[in-house]
Amino acid sequence: MTRDPKPYFNSHVFVCVNARAKDDPRGCCSSKGSVVLRNYLKQRAKETGLKGVRINGAQCLDRCELGPTLVIYPEGVWYHYRTKADLDEILETHLQNGGRVERLLMQPEWKELAETPWSE
Ligand code: FES
Repeated sequence: MTRDPKPYFNSHVFVCVNARAKDDPRGCCSSKGSVVLRNYLKQRAKETGLKGVRINGAQCLDRCELGPTLVIYPEGVWYHYRTKADLDEILETHLQNGGRVERLLMQPEWKELAETPWSE
């Protein structure tokens, strides 16, 4: 069996920036601030000189009710987040140091989160 080539990036982060109509029952990450927050994460990754990490905006990751959402590969670890401070913690703990931000981890069986407003 052929082995997969090694990943091109050490970490590849997909940040959902999908937008839906206001009356869509699933909501969307964009309406919860994901565009601003994705831009912040990209800026901070650049400022901190993070190497081997790619941060991409993504369309719907199909976990809308839990959003804003992001997923980091190759680990396949999912996070929900609300604030720039959340993203700072993901950047430092996960992307820089290989740990996990346990309070922001999303479990596969989760269907919804308690609603809290996003903020910068
Ligand atoms: S809109 Fe972000 S996961 Fe669906």
